Amino acid sequence: MGRRWQLERRRDHFYRMAKSEGYRSRAAFKLKQLDERYHLLAPGQVVVDLGAAPGGWLQVARERVGDEGFVLGVDLQAIAGLPYENVVTLVGDITDASTQELIRAKLPRPADVLLSDASPDISGIWDVDHARSMELARAALAIADAALVPGGKLLLKVFQGAMFGELLSELKRRFSSVKVTKPVASRKRSAEVYIVAEGFRRSR
Ligand SMILES: C[S@@+](CC[C@H](N)C(=O)[O-])C[C@H]1O[C@@H](n2cnc3c(N)ncnc32)[C@H](O)[C@@H]1O
Repeated sequence: MGRRWQLERRRDHFYRMAKSEGYRSRAAFKLKQLDERYHLLAPGQVVVDLGAAPGGWLQVARERVGDEGFVLGVDLQAIAGLPYENVVTLVGDITDASTQELIRAKLPRPADVLLSDASPDISGIWDVDHARSMELARAALAIADAALVPGGKLLLKVFQGAMFGELLSELKRRFSSVKVTKPVASRKRSAEVYIVAEGFRRSR
């Protein structure tokens, strides 16, 4: 069985599962797998989801936080509304300071969990994609400073590359526990990994 074919078949598997279970993206399964392993989400939490379109992670987050929680999704693209009063979406660029302020303003209280599946448009040039991904990671950290509760959790997608070590060191200064992982629903060959950071310390 060819490797390429195996990869395609796995992608197709998660695509069909997403469709049959009513999720807006295959990415929903990545969050489910990561949450099952790291217990990130719980009933009643306030969650911010960066790079949230088309909304698969929002659906999973809403399932986990339930009626008492609150989920805010942010993306450059508009996200079709979800049928829950406690899921709010916002169009904005997470690298803009004004979006960062708006996020804080929309929350009922500081967030317990910050999720970021934000990815740049893939150019195919590894260094370029990595640099853009690092910019999004830095934006997520600035949003953590503005909106994450001390002790809170961050789940962050990044594309690996030369500046990855530096980012990890920064995260280790800012969180008491930092782990790097790749969910099964991720394509093996892709540069993407997920960082699970817990025990947030604000820088200011
Ligand atoms: C892989 S998709 C997210 C999929 C989502 N987790 C889901 O389950 O439906 C990545 C998203 O990041 C968004 N994005 C990229 N750069 C961004 C930025 N600067 N600000 C906000 N969103 C951004 C893209 O518009 C895209 O929708």
